[in-house]
Amino acid sequence: MQVEGRTILVAGGSSGLGAACVRRLAARGARVVIADVDPAGERLSAELGDRAVFSPTDVTDEASVAHAVGLAVDRFGGLSGAVACAGILGPEKLLAREGVPSGANFRRVIEVNLVGTFHVVRLAADAMRAQPPGDDGERGVIVTTSSIACEEGQAGQAAYAASKGGVASMTLPIARELARHGIRIVSVAPGVFETPMIAALPPEARRSLAEQVPFPSRLGEPDEFAALVEHVFENRMLNGSVIRLDGAMRM
Ligand SMILES: NC(=O)c1ccc[n+]([C@@H]2O[C@H](COP(=O)([O-])OP(=O)(O)OC[C@H]3O[C@@H](n4cnc5c(N)ncnc54)[C@H](O)[C@@H]3O)[C@@H](O)[C@H]2O)c1
Repeated sequence: MQVEGRTILVAGGSSGLGAACVRRLAARGARVVIADVDPAGERLSAELGDRAVFSPTDVTDEASVAHAVGLAVDRFGGLSGAVACAGILGPEKLLAREGVPSGANFRRVIEVNLVGTFHVVRLAADAMRAQPPGDDGERGVIVTTSSIACEEGQAGQAAYAASKGGVASMTLPIARELARHGIRIVSVAPGVFETPMIAALPPEARRSLAEQVPFPSRLGEPDEFAALVEHVFENRMLNGSVIRLDGAMRM
């Protein structure tokens, strides 16, 4: 599917990898719905003019996601693509120095990263199946964001790794189910990218992460993620897989 003239919802589009997708897809002529809890998406949408609209969205709240999907249909006449980027890190040790943390943080990370992605996928797919079929009967494309932590999570990342493992694992069954509607789904598992999520780490930790990338030995640029997302939209044979984007990094 060429993105020009298509409407694409980007959950988590106010910042980092999602914002890079918003910019690249809009530059290629797509109309973009920025769905995020962070109102910074309002400024990004204003910058892009009538190619974009911001919908304040909490992905853990089905009604809020449904509203963003409805806005795509009402404003732009349908929905052909969705990129699920909303996510949080929520690091927490299993055994704290004093006592054992409750399951609240674990539940929250699963709720945002995994259940939130599920809401975006299913509600976007429901709108996509109403689209007229294009070449090969294609109606829509969904890209989710896993992480290399789904296979190589670090200490303190039990919740994050579990959530991203879930995002990766659901890719194939969803691809199989949505095939008859002409909807593809692919998950991208990034290594470490230069975004506000990573900027929050101490400089020494960021330097050490960059050094662990064999080549190129640096953090990924958000637009390199967005370029892969664009390619997934365009390449109809990509379906049901999880693609690592990590410069050969193994954490
Ligand atoms: N940056 C990396 O190195 C890296 C690596 C692997 C995976 N990822 C994943 O990529 C995705 C994007 O991360 P990023 O690095 O751009 O981080 P980021 O913090 O810059 O962006 C995340 C966005 O998600 C939004 N968000 C958080 N909770 C939300 C909710 N409940 N509802 C709606 N929006 C919500 C935030 O407001 C923010 O705009 C995340 O899922 C993250 O886990 C990032």
